[in-house]
Amino acid sequence: MAYDNRIIEQVQSLNDIVDVISSYIPLKRTGRSLKACCPFHQEKTPSFIVNPERQVFHCFGCGEGGDVLSFVMKYEQLTFPEALKLLADRAHFELPATSFQRSEKSNSGLLYQIYEVAQAFYHSNFMKLSIAEKARAYWKSRGFGEKEAIQFGIGFAQDDWRKLFEHLSQKGFHEEAMVRSGLIAKPSSQKTPYDLFRNRLMFPIRNAQGRVIAFGGRVLADEMPKYLNSPETDIFKKRREFYGLSVAKGTFIGQGSIRQIIIVEGYLDCLQLQVHGFLNTVATLGTALTEDHVRILKRYADEAILVYDGDRAGEQAAVRSLDVFLEEDMSAKAVGLPDALDPDDFLRSKGAEAFHEQLLEAQDIFDFKLNVLLGRFNKLDSSGLLKITGEFLDTLAKIKNQVLLDRYLKKLAGSLGVEERSLKIELEKLKAKKVTRSSNALEVSTRSAASSPILPYEKLILTCLLQNPSYLEKLLEALPTYEFENEQAREFFEILRRQISERAELFSSTHLMNELKDDRLKVFATELLVSELPEGEALEQVFQDCLAKIEQVLLDKELKEIKHRIQQAERDKDLPLVNQLLQDYQGLLEGSRRRKENLKK
Ligand code: CTP
Ligand code: MN
Repeated sequence: MAYDNRIIEQVQSLNDIVDVISSYIPLKRTGRSLKACCPFHQEKTPSFIVNPERQVFHCFGCGEGGDVLSFVMKYEQLTFPEALKLLADRAHFELPATSFQRSEKSNSGLLYQIYEVAQAFYHSNFMKLSIAEKARAYWKSRGFGEKEAIQFGIGFAQDDWRKLFEHLSQKGFHEEAMVRSGLIAKPSSQKTPYDLFRNRLMFPIRNAQGRVIAFGGRVLADEMPKYLNSPETDIFKKRREFYGLSVAKGTFIGQGSIRQIIIVEGYLDCLQLQVHGFLNTVATLGTALTEDHVRILKRYADEAILVYDGDRAGEQAAVRSLDVFLEEDMSAKAVGLPDALDPDDFLRSKGAEAFHEQLLEAQDIFDFKLNVLLGRFNKLDSSGLLKITGEFLDTLAKIKNQVLLDRYLKKLAGSLGVEERSLKIELEKLKAKKVTRSSNALEVSTRSAASSPILPYEKLILTCLLQNPSYLEKLLEALPTYEFENEQAREFFEILRRQISERAELFSSTHLMNELKDDRLKVFATELLVSELPEGEALEQVFQDCLAKIEQVLLDKELKEIKHRIQQAERDKDLPLVNQLLQDYQGLLEGSRRRKENLKK
């Protein structure tokens, strides 16, 4: 639920962002802004900026950003209404009770609540119900006791169709919200809703801040499917979450020089490791490790150690993850457990000491993959050799760091008994192929720019506009139809343009931030808001330079297009057209030269 924007702005204006943030972390003044080490990711040099003039914060390290409300939400792990309440109380401001409305922001809050209530319900079932005895017995057979059940919030879903549904109804949740949580299923509007999880041992899945966002449920016997996971929702994205992270992340503080994180595949593997003292363990959630995963881990750890099942599937999963680590530039090792054991089996049969030794023997993930492939293919026959090099060239093409690349090329050449030079040649060929492929793609759609990085001058121009709305008129005059290359820039400009035109004198960046529904755009905006621009004439110069740069880029594009058409016309032997196009070309160049001279005057 959300208040109307006037109330929100009032609460914001009563809570200066510097006062609020410095009540949590120490801020140091630098120029017009204040700096700190970011509370949302690990860092040693401060890249977290607070701008008092614009009442926003932004971290250039992890990309977090927002206004005073977003800060409190993030820091205190609150929903929007909760954060608003906290800040209102802080300023002794009484929120009107009537202005509650439904809105996007409330959805996640409601989901968190449902999951919290469901978790308490399942857990209390597990601890107290006599029919949960079989679940407790199973838990015990897996090597855990009551203490661990409490510690990890283990639950039990009864063998019944509507127990959770009834409980949630009693607590006042609406059916629509329950269905949205995925914990309650309703296949068609006629049917009665029923529980997703029945007769299962329940593992609450928590986000990094420790809030329950999903469940994994395991059958107590050997039925299928063995595990059932609650579906993705607004608060749960499998490709970004880990099981166990809220525990693991607390264990890095103050550890040695290299912070390591252990990654396993199963809930029980993760729990078993944590119980055996390897608190720095997380599990993926029935998916392969993604780039998002690695990006998140990088906030907490310097190096990952993969301990996947010792069978072919586990080995293959470890091999596949090499590319993800290389792309994200994170160091990683892998352990191959003996006898096709999984980490849980291994710990229970051989103990923590033996597991620790396995960790010490972890191989660099590149060597791990190399050894696996050398075991699978014969490097001495040509087809085997081609297979192995083929597998690696794609991987090598992704390495951005030249030093690492050199090292890996040497290693590969050495173990395969081929010339390093030959590998380099093959690699160059592959890269060349990739470049043509991607530039072809560019011609087909110059606007598939979703992932194209923002151009520096586009960013600068938006910064100028946001901090000095009066520039909008100048921009529209100089470049009435300009479309930003970068997708976010384009979206943001549309909103900015509308707000500046509609609100005129009333335009304020705070208001704009409140209007932005999309978190991506919010973060985008805060980065622009905290960027420092020069003042007065120097600012004018910056703005003019950006305009000139854009004009140049547009001109170059047009000239290129005409050149292309000239070549075409020459091939078609269409002389009149060639002449016409040559004139156009001259005309464009001429026009641009005149404009530049006018500017100088
Ligand atoms: N998994 C899943 N859905 C399945 C099977 C597996 O989501 N149908 C995920 C679960 O997160 C599980 C992990 O993959 O923990 C590993 O699966 P698996 O190796 O089959 O199970 P174990 O973790 O060894 O489970 P257990 O020891 O309970 O048999
Ligand atoms: Mn297992």
